[in-house]
Amino acid sequence: MIVLGIESSCDETAASLVRDGHEVLSNVISSQISKHAQFGGVVPELAAREHLKNVSPVVNAAFAEAGVKLNEIGAVAVTSRPGLVPALLVGNAYAKGLAAALGVPIVGMNHFLGHIYGSFIEHPEVLADAKSFPILALVVSGGHTALVLIPADGKATILGSTLDDAAGEALDKAAKVLGLGYPGGPIIDRLSKEGNPDAFAFPRSLTGRAGKAVKPEHRFDFSFSGVKTSLLYAIKDTPDAVEKRLNDLAASFQEAVIDVLAMKAADAARAHKVKLICLCGGVACNSRLREKIAKTCEKCRIGFLPAPPKYCTDNAAMIGGLAWHFLKNGAATPEEFGINARLDVNLGTLPFAPLASV
Ligand code: KG4
Ligand code: ZN
Repeated sequence: MIVLGIESSCDETAASLVRDGHEVLSNVISSQISKHAQFGGVVPELAAREHLKNVSPVVNAAFAEAGVKLNEIGAVAVTSRPGLVPALLVGNAYAKGLAAALGVPIVGMNHFLGHIYGSFIEHPEVLADAKSFPILALVVSGGHTALVLIPADGKATILGSTLDDAAGEALDKAAKVLGLGYPGGPIIDRLSKEGNPDAFAFPRSLTGRAGKAVKPEHRFDFSFSGVKTSLLYAIKDTPDAVEKRLNDLAASFQEAVIDVLAMKAADAARAHKVKLICLCGGVACNSRLREKIAKTCEKCRIGFLPAPPKYCTDNAAMIGGLAWHFLKNGAATPEEFGINARLDVNLGTLPFAPLASV
């Protein structure tokens, strides 16, 4: 079955046609970054207005690129949560209208689960093999930072998540403080390659490194507000640092964020005897993070499945692909489903796990 995926939860309008969950026939993304860059972050109403302009052309382009006709699709899937409410409304209203006109089912998809699925689009064989499980997903994006445990029955649990900023948000805010553009993650990634990651000593919060014991309930949680404050102090205490040691500041900041992600992932992997770590979400594009988690997996002698960069940042292939698994499991979304700004901590059963019954 071919599913049309539509994504409009933040600042990317995206549409994709995916056959049977894994064969991506088209993957069209229209980014609004240039519209939001002047504000240093995404402005929800502006995002909604841009989605409204872009959604039809993007969907049409997805059909054209795939060489598929409207009447050939079996379902429409749309990101219904979590995300920016005005932005979600546009994609959901469009998707519901299109599904009604075509007389096909519509499914509301969880964007966070979509990111996890980004690691598996090109790897159905991993999902088919119960021996790949339990899997640990490290989800790192502009909106989320979490460790998710996925057993073979698909009953996923969030082991820990950020108590304040998401990793991508921290990188974007650091870039803003350093006078770099938006989004800051890719710029910091680039500058860090020329800098010394040990030049500035930034804290590794909630790891016990500073001699402060971590409360057991925060063992797998993250906090990135302290490292952000430390960056502000470093700039204040070393007046010409931004001018003369920009690469060192970027590299040291990035290393502090990545170190914590790698340490917590390793700890969770050992504690839950996972067989494989999947790395997903926009920040998973980061070259140093990919390198470091790869090393972590090597040390723990477990598999590593980083999402390909095109399925790390927001896209609709992860939505259309994931939806197919829900449809296959007979988990239809009620027609009257709405949108939700927040992530439900109860992730439910992930239908792509080999022993899942939704
Ligand atoms: O998944 P995504 O496209 O959107 C959300 O769901 O949030 O993630 C966007 C985030 C931004 O914070 C951006 O700075 C970060 O991903 N990002 C990166 C890199 N590429 C994108 N962060 C670090 N290094 C990168 N190469
Ligand atoms: Zn996202």
